[in-house]
Formats: sequence, structure tokens, C-alpha cells
Amino acid sequence: FVESQWLPFKAAIDSHLHKTWSATSIINGAAIDEYKVDGQVNKLEAHTVRAPWNHDVIAGEVVYANADLAQQATLAAVAGQAAWQAQSAAKRAAILRKIADLYEENYAELMALCQVEAGKTMQDSIDEIKEAVDFCRFYADEAERLDEVVHEFTDLSGKPARQVYKARGTFVCISPWNFPLAIYTGQIVAALAAGNTVVAKPAEQTSLIAHFGAQLMYQAGVPVEALQLVIGAGEVGGALTAADNIAGVIFTGSTQTAQRINQSLNSHAQSSGELPILIAETGGQNAMIVDSTALPEQVVKDAVLSAFGSAGQRCSACRILCVQEEMADDLIELLQGNMAELSVGNPLYAATDVGPVIDADAKNGLEAHIDRMRAEPTATILAQTPMSVSSVVSQEKSTFVLPTAIEVKSIDVIGGEHFGPILHVLRYQARDLNKLIDAINSTGFGLTLGIHSRIENTAEHVERRVLVGNTYINRNQIGAVVNVQPFGGCGLSGTGPKAGGPHYVARLMKLDSDNQPS
Ligand code: SER
Repeated sequence: FVESQWLPFKAAIDSHLHKTWSATSIINGAAIDEYKVDGQVNKLEAHTVRAPWNHDVIAGEVVYANADLAQQATLAAVAGQAAWQAQSAAKRAAILRKIADLYEENYAELMALCQVEAGKTMQDSIDEIKEAVDFCRFYADEAERLDEVVHEFTDLSGKPARQVYKARGTFVCISPWNFPLAIYTGQIVAALAAGNTVVAKPAEQTSLIAHFGAQLMYQAGVPVEALQLVIGAGEVGGALTAADNIAGVIFTGSTQTAQRINQSLNSHAQSSGELPILIAETGGQNAMIVDSTALPEQVVKDAVLSAFGSAGQRCSACRILCVQEEMADDLIELLQGNMAELSVGNPLYAATDVGPVIDADAKNGLEAHIDRMRAEPTATILAQTPMSVSSVVSQEKSTFVLPTAIEVKSIDVIGGEHFGPILHVLRYQARDLNKLIDAINSTGFGLTLGIHSRIENTAEHVERRVLVGNTYINRNQIGAVVNVQPFGGCGLSGTGPKAGGPHYVARLMKLDSDNQPS
């Protein structure tokens, strides 16, 4: 970051930093902060949101809905389906493009929200907004492209038949806190592009960003009936995915939650009798494989960014750096040097590389894993970056986890995905490359893989044998770009189709066969 170039933008962001925001659910355009039972009005539960880097900083207040309100929101979206579906693809696309414009115009407030509520660094906040904007513009193009796709057929007697794309119905969009604007927006605008109405349930940790995003969407022209916002925790998510009138769920989050949603959907047919569909993007146990021909400085730069960027809170993040024995000692030394240079602390500083993790539950889980690894006889802590002197805040009033590198002797000892700034390092012998790939495959996850090698055949061999959605060769393995690197995994990492790719909006539509009378 060149700080002098950044200063004019920083002033704009700073003007929003001392705001407190608020968020409620929005049903048919009305902000919901109370709930009527038997004619009696009850206030809904309000929660104070604190910045994860300093709990004395209050970001705002969030009002949680309950299961009954979630059901009302679903009914409202279902009732709005016919009108939204009747809009032309060109009109839907124009609204999505307007959302992109409004996000750009409001970048300073969106960045302030990303930094205060989600603890994102400046670079991550910029990337977050850019990705959200890219999703809007790409899915707008997709709405128009798919509208033109008509498959024409002729039967043996010459009678014509055709097949066209049509909307499916109402989608529940459940989005994560780690991409509180980008994935939240991507899910919603893809469903809207397809002509579907939406009930959005953002992660409770980042409801303020979601609420502001929804306001911009309405301002852009999304009808209030077409987008219902439900703020709350797992209880409301459960109610939404059990609704019997939805066409499907778009979900990003843990594999376990995706499995629960899948079970719920399988037991609820829509009123039409169709089973709702699930599009899930879940976790990863992502490896980077480095052979002895790789360029060590490049490997370390890419591994550090992939493991510790966004405080490791990306499903694409590198969790296991697998290094061929011949170069392992040198690479570990470089890794230790590079980690010592990282700046860990307050995300409002332009120089900060690693901010906090999202909340105390995340911090406790990650630190418990580091403690387990300390006690594990076959594991060794290789490096741990301290907090930067300039931004030490009390441990009780923040949720920082120090970037940590741990050498392990096997993948099994890691025990699943640890969603934060922890990188495991594993040495392998060249003759055991296939065994290594099979061990990576046997985790069941299949999201990203990094390969560093100057031998093309090796890279090709690894790419063919490994079961993942996105492979990155001689570069970092995070930050898939919309319509350049369609993103999504297989196995325990998700169902596909890939977000930001040519099959995503199409999957949210159905192909309708339109036969001429015989
Ligand atoms: N799309 C993000 C990435 O590629 C992860 O969700 O890093």
C-alpha cells in the first residue's frame, strides 16, 4: 500500500467511521423491530455490535427476527414472484447494473462498515466491494444472455418444439460473515437475475453491512416484494429452509450446516411437488504442493498471502503447505522471515496485513487448535507473528489470533478445517507425490489447490489427480475473480455450480419445453 495515494480515500472513509448503524429485517419494505402475538406488541431482541478489533468501539445495533417473521418474509417473497418474473430480462439487468453503480458511489461507507463490523483490512475491504460490483454486472449480463438462449427442435413430421429458460421461484439466500458484501450480494443478484424472488438471511455477525447493501438494492429499483431481508441467527435460518414454498436455497458456510439444509429440503416438496434445489459452497482443507524446482521466494509470498490474508478466513485459504523434502529447510527459514514482517493489528491502519478474526467463538476454537498442536508430540510450532506494537489492544476486548505456522507429520493430525490464520507445513518425498495427493483427496474436501513447480508435466499430473474445484499454478490460491476464475468446489466443499461462472444463473432457472400442438 502506498499511503500517500490512499489519503484522499481515507478521509472519505474516516467520515463514516464514527457512525453507528442499525439493522432490522425488512418485509415488503417495512422495517421490523416488533412482533404482534394475540394483538399484543412485543419488541424484538436487539443486539449491540462491537468492532472485533476493539470491543469499546460500537458499530451499531441489530434487531433479530424470529421464526414466525421468517415465515412471513417467505410468504411475501412467494407472493411477489409473478410480478418480478414478468419484468423483462433487460429491466432486471438494468436494476442490477444500478446496484453496482450505487455500491461504487457509496464505497466509503461500505468500506467503513467492512472495517468496523467485519474487521477487514483496507485491501480486503476494497476487494470486497469490487467483487460485489463484479457480481452485479456479470449476472446482469447473464440475465440478458440466457433470455436469448432458445433451443429449437423439430420432430420427424417437421413440427417445431423449443426449450427456453424460466425463473424457478423464491430462493432463500444464506450468506457468510467472511464475505459480508460480496457473497451476500452475489447470491441475491444471481437469483434476481434469473427472475426469482429472494429471502436473504445474512450471517448475524455482519447484519449491518447486509442491511445497508439491501437499502442500496431497493434504491436501485429492486421491488420491495422481490427482496425480503431476514436478520437473525440459526433459528430463523432453520425456519427459512423448512418453508414448503421455496424453489431452493443458496448457501455459503459450513459443510455441517449444508448437510442439515439438504436434509430439510429433501423432506419438503414445494406446493408444485418439486423438490427445492441446494447450491452450497462450503469449507476446504486446501493444500499448496511445492516441488524442488519451485522459486522459494515466490512460494513463500504466495503461501503467506493465501494462508494469512483475510486472517485466514477464506474457504479458499491455504491450510497445508506441502514441501518437497530437498527444499523444506530453506523454505521454512524464508517463511519464518516473511511471517516476522507481517503487520498484525488494527485494520484501520493502511499498513495492517492481518486483522482480527470475527468473534470470540472463532478465536477460542483456533487457539484451542494451536494449543493442541503444541501438546502434540509429532507437531512443531515453526513461527508465530506477534501483534504490531502500534495496535496492541487488550486481549479481552478484541479477537486477534496470531498468524501461526505449524509443522506436522501427517494431514490426519490436523483434524479438519481451522478457519483462521494457521498454516500447517508438511514435508514430502518426491517418490511419495501420488500418496500425498491421495491423502489430500481423502480429506473429502475439494475446494482449492496451489501448485508450485517449474516442471509443466508435474503441474499437469497433480492437477489431473487431485479432486478440487479450483487449481492455481505458480501463484497464490485465493481471490477468484468473477467471470475469470469461476469459483466452487466438489465433495465436502460444495455442490456447484461455480459462482461467477457461466452456469450459475442458469442453474437458478429451469428449462421449459414449449411444444407446438400436434
Ligand atoms: N471466492 C473467494 C476466494 O476465491 C473465497 O470465497 O478467495
